[in-house]
Amino acid sequence: MSSSLTNKLITVTGAASGIGLSTARILARRGALLSLADYNKANLTKAHEELASLSSPKNIISTPLDIRSTASVNDWISHTRKHFSRTIDGCANIAGFHPLWAPKNIEEITDEEFDETIQINTVGLFKCLRAQLAPDMLSSPSSIVNVGSVSGLIGFAGDSAYVASKHAAHGLTKAASKEAGKRGIRVNAVAPGQTNTPMVQAMAAGKGTLPLPFLSLGREGQPEEIAEVISWLLGEESSYVTGSIYRADGGMLD
Ligand SMILES: NC(=O)c1ccc[n+]([C@@H]2O[C@H](COP(=O)([O-])OP(=O)(O)OC[C@H]3O[C@@H](n4cnc5c(N)ncnc54)[C@H](O)[C@@H]3O)[C@@H](O)[C@H]2O)c1
Repeated sequence: MSSSLTNKLITVTGAASGIGLSTARILARRGALLSLADYNKANLTKAHEELASLSSPKNIISTPLDIRSTASVNDWISHTRKHFSRTIDGCANIAGFHPLWAPKNIEEITDEEFDETIQINTVGLFKCLRAQLAPDMLSSPSSIVNVGSVSGLIGFAGDSAYVASKHAAHGLTKAASKEAGKRGIRVNAVAPGQTNTPMVQAMAAGKGTLPLPFLSLGREGQPEEIAEVISWLLGEESSYVTGSIYRADGGMLD
């Protein structure tokens, strides 16, 4: 299927699972060139094989990496630029982490528990943005889409580390949009509500899910439904949208 994403070079973190994998599938079907990253090497290999069959093996490269590593993230972005001999047209920064603890109030959380969530969801995202916004990496125009959360818009008791990390992800999105706009680079975030991915399935298994507030649509989201919003923000169809936090939450906050 031809679209504004056909032949566009797009990077995707968190591409081995859930929302990231669904996004990569849509992008592959629409003919994008993909540079995928994830720290789960086994799942990334599986994703790569599947995506190559949807597109063409020469259109896809994969790099196992932890977004907490400055050197790995910088090398990945500059390798992507060199490998395809062109600037990058879009970045989907989707990798994220939820601590699988049963709800814990602030007074019960250890330094290590708080730090792990912030290091991935906030500092790791910052490192991706810094590498992507470095001179000569992105095309003009281009589009960056970060995945935040409804937890970046309101507080949930017992989930302060994740809530804080996602509020910061939305803040980084807004600041980056102000800095990069005049270079032709748009920066937006998608804020999913509860979505049926391995992250949420693992939380349910550990009885760590939070009670769901009333949903207008009366059901949780599917990863493809979030991936469609990400893909729209990556494409030219959203050319006048920047600095926005797009809720894809089935009406959780209405
Ligand atoms: N599923 C939901 O209900 C929901 C709701 C709101 C926001 N989100 C956000 O959506 C994004 C995707 O989550 P998902 O539900 O698809 O989860 P998922 O666990 O299925 O996928 C997340 C992927 O990110 C990768 N990852 C995690 N930390 C990484 C790191 N340090 N370096 C590289 N890769 C790393 C994981 O290996 C995994 O493949 C996350 O940012 C998450 O916070 C999810």
